[in-house]
Amino acid sequence: MALNPVRWPAEAIWEAVEPLLPGFSVEVLPEIDSTNTELMRRARAGRHEPVLLVAERQTAGRGRMGRVWQDGGAPEAGELPSLMFSLGLPLAPADWSGLSLAVGLSLAESLDPDARAGLGLKWPNDLWRQDCKLGGILIETAGGGAAQPGQPPVPRHVVIGVGINVLRRPIEGTSTPLAALRDWLPHASAPETLLRVIPPLVQTLLGFVDGGFAPLLARFLARDVLRGRPVRTSDGLEGTAAGVDAGGALLVHTAQGTQAIQSSEVSVRPVSALPPAC
Ligand code: BTN
Repeated sequence: MALNPVRWPAEAIWEAVEPLLPGFSVEVLPEIDSTNTELMRRARAGRHEPVLLVAERQTAGRGRMGRVWQDGGAPEAGELPSLMFSLGLPLAPADWSGLSLAVGLSLAESLDPDARAGLGLKWPNDLWRQDCKLGGILIETAGGGAAQPGQPPVPRHVVIGVGINVLRRPIEGTSTPLAALRDWLPHASAPETLLRVIPPLVQTLLGFVDGGFAPLLARFLARDVLRGRPVRTSDGLEGTAAGVDAGGALLVHTAQGTQAIQSSEVSVRPVSALPPAC
């Protein structure tokens, strides 16, 4: 029996975003390899118009550091197990540092505005709840170059890919247990979540272009799930997480002093004696 097609609020999103991003469009595809891969292909082919690309299935979803993003398979009872989209647009901030933290913060504040559900951020850009992963962000850029002193910033085409678990689902091979929106929002769906997160995300990006990450620092710290906890990084550093700095670098107190970790190629985990609560 054919399942009902998913109804996406493409027009409502377009109406909210187009005044902010002239030329913006919304596309929904039933299946693609990866929304990030597709928008990067388009950017390399010279297509730089702002676009939101949503996929109901991904056959080759990608995560940070070469990992795979699994979308949870076929829709259950006509519902998508996860929301997957990429937002591609040209941006020219004076300073790019902290962009991924700003994106994560915007999503967390849209999904759990008063933080009552305990939705937090795990540096640099995972959405975590009770030490379980609700979602992840993969940011890639194409084109542009370093700003020259005294010259305006050079725009780069940015592709911001987001995957958010809507339904709880078993996924093989993940080291972090998964959380889902339905854990605390019983009526959450992928289309409704998309409408909830996209307009504020665009506002956040435009604010980031003007002001960078520093104005968002205090709000990030309020959601930082690592702060004050023992952590270990993928390149062997051990210490206690001590928040992030105004450029979005993770601060870790170690026996050798405080280290600021900037690299997006480093992952960090809490060293916990307790199992995750999800
Ligand atoms: C991570 O957790 O490491 C990042 C996951 C990012 C997944 C999203 S799903 C939509 C977009 N397309 C991809 O291939 N990846 C991102």
